[in-house]
Amino acid sequence: MKVNNIDYRTVWMNGTSVFFIEQNLLPFQFSIQEAKFCSESCNAIRTMMVRGAGAIGAIAGFAMAQAALEAPENEYLIFLQNAKAAIEATRPTARNLFHAVEKVFAAALISRAAAVSAAQQVADRDAADSRAIGEFGNELIREGMNIETHCNAGWLAFVDFGTALSPVYLAHQQGKKIFVYADETRPRSQGARLTAWELNQAGVPHTIIPDNAGAWLMSLGKIDMMIVGADRIAANGDTANKIGTLEKAIAAKEYGIPFYVAAPTSTFDLACPDGRHIPIEERSEDEVLYQDGITSEGRLARVLVCSPESSALNPAFDVTPAKFITGIITEKGIIKPSRKMIQQLLT
Ligand code: MRU
Repeated sequence: MKVNNIDYRTVWMNGTSVFFIEQNLLPFQFSIQEAKFCSESCNAIRTMMVRGAGAIGAIAGFAMAQAALEAPENEYLIFLQNAKAAIEATRPTARNLFHAVEKVFAAALISRAAAVSAAQQVADRDAADSRAIGEFGNELIREGMNIETHCNAGWLAFVDFGTALSPVYLAHQQGKKIFVYADETRPRSQGARLTAWELNQAGVPHTIIPDNAGAWLMSLGKIDMMIVGADRIAANGDTANKIGTLEKAIAAKEYGIPFYVAAPTSTFDLACPDGRHIPIEERSEDEVLYQDGITSEGRLARVLVCSPESSALNPAFDVTPAKFITGIITEKGIIKPSRKMIQQLLT
């Protein structure tokens, strides 16, 4: 996607280095960072400089390739195994991370060059899948629709194009008049900061809404459809996504609003029979207690926004049961979230 008329991917590898857009600085600063080693790529995932299921998958694949390049000849296998464990320990919920690491690890057993090429393929496939999701999802979008989305499942969360926002971009490019309600998505405000920034860059009409406004807007008939991304989809269609998705899905069902999940097949996990088996990341309470922003003088600053004596609980994801999901938009088409359909999709 374009930033100031220049085409960017969120993450790419050149030589032995990985380059990425530093998402923690957006929307205030647009900055490209370099991770020279596997350990630096791991740090980028852990600290959410690179975040979002597909982008995490891509950088995890590149990190595994970096490990293959760094591994000493005489300890090649053990070095790779340790690196794999370290990458997999960065963030637990997004299936794409494990999908990428497994693919690149298998290639690294053949050769270092095969590992680099497999990591590149993972990233290229993520971009291609996102584009295809846009084409299928666009068929659901009619002229004049108001679409709500949660968190950031735009191009920043993937290698390019995004999932939930990919259909939105295509519909907008085709001249459909649409409007997007972006949930702010506390505590890290991916909606208010990243989705809104992306929509601004693309010129898509939108507004940011507080996380607790969705049900009210639905009750007033202001939302025609909801599209969200996914971090992991279990074999029965239960879907882990950013915390707050579940309550939107329940509200959408109550008000008869179609609720779509957009995700590539690399997000499905057949080894997870249902949502109860999806590991849910719990992050630092500081993400709730403090907020990062920019002062009127243009200085980045962190401020305490909660009672100083209180602690905070910070589950990063929730699981929406399949019964609340109208359909899953994938790169192969749109399916009902049933065990049978998912099995067919993946075989
Ligand atoms: O914790 P994050 O920002 O990495 O969250 C992942 C997500 O981007 C969302 O859950 C998103 O809606 C899923 S699609 C990338």
